[in-house]
Amino acid sequence: MNTNNVTVIGLQWGDEGKGKVVDALADQSRYVVRFCGGANAGHTVTVNGERFALHLIPCGILHPSVMNVVGNGVAFDPETAWAEIEALRQRDVEVGPGNLAISATAQVVMPWHKTRDQLNEKQLGEKKIGTTARGIGPCYADKANRSTAIRVGELLDENTLVQKIRLIGAIKNRLFESLFDGEALNLDAVVEQIVQLGRNLAPMIRDTGGMLRRAVATGDRILFEGGQGSMLDIDHGTYPFVTSSSVSACGVPAGAGVPPKAVGHVVGIMKAYTTRVGAGPFPTEQDNETGEYIRQRGKEFGTTTGRPRRCGWLDAAVVRYTAALSGVDELALMLLDVLSGLKELKICTGYTLEGRPVEDFDPAQLGNVECQWETLPGWSEEITDCRRFEDLPAGAQAYVTRVEEVTGCPVGLISVGPGREQSLPHHTQIEGLA
Ligand code: IMP
Repeated sequence: MNTNNVTVIGLQWGDEGKGKVVDALADQSRYVVRFCGGANAGHTVTVNGERFALHLIPCGILHPSVMNVVGNGVAFDPETAWAEIEALRQRDVEVGPGNLAISATAQVVMPWHKTRDQLNEKQLGEKKIGTTARGIGPCYADKANRSTAIRVGELLDENTLVQKIRLIGAIKNRLFESLFDGEALNLDAVVEQIVQLGRNLAPMIRDTGGMLRRAVATGDRILFEGGQGSMLDIDHGTYPFVTSSSVSACGVPAGAGVPPKAVGHVVGIMKAYTTRVGAGPFPTEQDNETGEYIRQRGKEFGTTTGRPRRCGWLDAAVVRYTAALSGVDELALMLLDVLSGLKELKICTGYTLEGRPVEDFDPAQLGNVECQWETLPGWSEEITDCRRFEDLPAGAQAYVTRVEEVTGCPVGLISVGPGREQSLPHHTQIEGLA
């Protein structure tokens, strides 16, 4: 198969800046496809100085000739989706069946999933995962359970939908009341809300897998837009402190309904440092002045929840692992400008465990390892106005080169600010990436 498709995925714990890269590539793509996660994602794109925060609708929505697809692997929250569609329309962005297709086989996030997410976390207390409370885990749990799940296509058949909501809703309410001491949901209100949302969204509900396989056959470019980051992958991340779907490039075929070869050229997005939201191991975390410096300069507060993100030095061992997992062809190194002003920069290049070097990266051991550090000189200049690699101070150039060496992947683009013009092409093989 000859494909010019591109897959964009996060290589850390999410929030790497995927939205900006997807936005840049969307112009040359016919389809932009979400294949994992749901409204837990938060992609921010800035176009002509206007900031758009999208959670469920693919980033290609800002490009008139793109068909945006919410794939079958997504946990689809109709309430959030409709609110986003309305907000976009208010800002004169057209959204309809001509540019948005929602998979009939995606899972519906129901109100009880959000309630359950919150109740779970409350019960776990200190041991909680720190989820985004968007109902993601409980929705995918019902997907695996099958009999208590509702798929998007079922929104189209009102009679059956109402029966199903009442049946499943009654089961959920019994659980909330008896196990969690929680309040029962008002099922009349749930029926009314979901039926109305189904009517609103009906024109956009389709067999997206068939549509994408036709595109694969004709060679129209598809851009797969990852959510979260590979260290949050349900199988390959820091389990149980992960999200509930396959968020690496391995999740593309199953989550979009395309053959594995359709994944195409894989661009791995990484920050020049590391952040994480929620609980779980984070070996390079800097819970100190350095972390605070990065948080303030990088505006490291959650797009979805507003939570301050945990910040730390670049963990290149993580990136080496996640890049290998997804077969990354090139890296996009984001937020390099945030590191300006630090005298010295540290990179974690590997780990030791009980004094011995760790050969194979094992996410399950991440809470027990010691970092092997390398220290590089920093740079004092602001670099947000640099437009070419050669414009960067020597320290920044050396940092980029070291990232390539340690991860074993070329850096395709370097980002020094949120604007489209603040992307410096480096070793990219994709036209239009920067
Ligand atoms: P959930 O996906 O809401 O269940 O949350 C599980 C974990 O993944 C929590 O630590 C969240 O903070 C994290 N998470 C989920 N989505 C994102 C994201 O888009 N960016 C960063 N972290 C995320």
